[in-house]
Amino acid sequence: MTTIKPLLTDLACTLNHVPSNFIRPIDDRPNLEFQSSTNDSIPIIDLHGLEDDDSNRCQIIQSIAQACQNYGFFQIVNHGVPEEVVDNMVNVSKEFFNLPESERMKNYSDDPLKTTRLSTSFNLRTENISNWRDFLRLHCHPLEDYVHEWPSNPPSFREDVAEYSKEMRKLALRLVEAISESLGLEKNYINKAIGKHGQHMAINYYPPCPEPELTYGLPAHADPNVITILLQNDVPGLQVLKDAKWVTVSPVPNTFIVNIGDQIQVISNDKYKSVLHRALVNSEKERMSIPTFYCPSPDAIMKPAPQLINSDHPAQYIDFTYDDYYKTFWNGGLSKQTCLHMFNA
Ligand code: OGA
Ligand code: NI
Repeated sequence: MTTIKPLLTDLACTLNHVPSNFIRPIDDRPNLEFQSSTNDSIPIIDLHGLEDDDSNRCQIIQSIAQACQNYGFFQIVNHGVPEEVVDNMVNVSKEFFNLPESERMKNYSDDPLKTTRLSTSFNLRTENISNWRDFLRLHCHPLEDYVHEWPSNPPSFREDVAEYSKEMRKLALRLVEAISESLGLEKNYINKAIGKHGQHMAINYYPPCPEPELTYGLPAHADPNVITILLQNDVPGLQVLKDAKWVTVSPVPNTFIVNIGDQIQVISNDKYKSVLHRALVNSEKERMSIPTFYCPSPDAIMKPAPQLINSDHPAQYIDFTYDDYYKTFWNGGLSKQTCLHMFNA
């Protein structure tokens, strides 16, 4: 009798080869040798002094402007998130993915619009090729609307993840203030432009893969939201596209990786670009990454900041609701371009 395993976590350990539905066409495979020969990386920015009323803030905002313009990605140190909160988040995530299959499956759904769900790959309903990933996705803001939906096992899950998501919200708000200023906008601009705000989170679990040269954990994509704050464990896998080359972001302890999402590209009227990135897998070690997707609320009307529109830079985008954008993203499947072209002026 064959049993169907919906989750990769339960299937991967039984396999010596990658099943055919995970295999990419020859011209779309990760180049694992090339990966080890590049040593460029994304900028590291020290946030110490960001709230100071002196030249520190100015300098940090300058570095953020540079990083957003040249990479769309940066790493942050001295971010102010307590180590204990991060450790608890990582530990409870590991515990969750180690729960028995029957316990994990209580949270399973392949409906992208469900606000709490465990699933696999990206969007099983629309994609042709599967990705080497399981993920638990949670909505986190307003916390009280969602926390009761979250897994209740491991027993500390809700408390640990709630603490972490509160810290991520504080950090995201500081970052969007700094990014607003880096664009020459008033500090509150982005805060006010994204409606009542939203916050989602994923716990990505990439099991070891017997043939990592044939598939992706996540293929090239841009994030649809405002900014993403990513925590990764000590196993590399994230790559960022820079000048047509894939740059590996090596894990650095006590840092987060921040990237500009499609909505900052819209607000900035293309001054900042939402950059393609992807996740590779490996044959040795499980990899975990925990992105926080800070986003507009679904009803927010997104458009370029009027201050950044002029005769040299006409508005690049029509007005749209984030709800429309989000649905377009999930229906489209991950592809090598953002869905922004569907909202061009
Ligand atoms: C994502 C993502 C990268 C990673 O979840 O959107 O880009 O390293 N993850 O897991
Ligand atoms: Ni991403």
